[in-house]
Amino acid sequence: MKSALVLFAAAAMVCLFGMSNIAGADGKNKSGEAEFKEHCAVCHPNGGNIMNTKKTLHKGDLDANNIKTATDIIMKMRNPGTGMTKFDTKTVSDSEAKKIAEYILKTFK
Ligand code: HEC
Repeated sequence: MKSALVLFAAAAMVCLFGMSNIAGADGKNKSGEAEFKEHCAVCHPNGGNIMNTKKTLHKGDLDANNIKTATDIIMKMRNPGTGMTKFDTKTVSDSEAKKIAEYILKTFK
């Protein structure tokens, strides 16, 4: 009887894990940090910019380039300048984009 319960619990856990993996795959359950690492960190490691050192994600540069809010960062993702990958809503949904933007604003000072 006891072992049947253990088995049941194990099966339930496998189910839950499976479900959270599926939910994670479309980015809904990922943190802004995880999304940033997945989409942005190749070119912006630690908030830097490997292609254009005047356009890092640090506050001083963002301010200088008139990027002040999460919305401004999302605009940049949707309409990037030269050298940056364009992220449309299929690649990064609005809610994911917002999480990434908030992560950038609170992380790179
Ligand atoms: C292929 C390399 C590449 C990737 C990937 C990339 N960027 Fe960029 N990013 C750039 C380049 C190059 C610039 C400078 C050109 C420009 O203004 O768009 C830039 C500029 C920016 C700026 C403006 C910074 C400033 O100081 O003016 C922001 C904000 C930004 N990127 C955010 C992101 C976010 C968020 C992601 C991930 C969703 C991302 N980038 C992914 C290359 C990249």
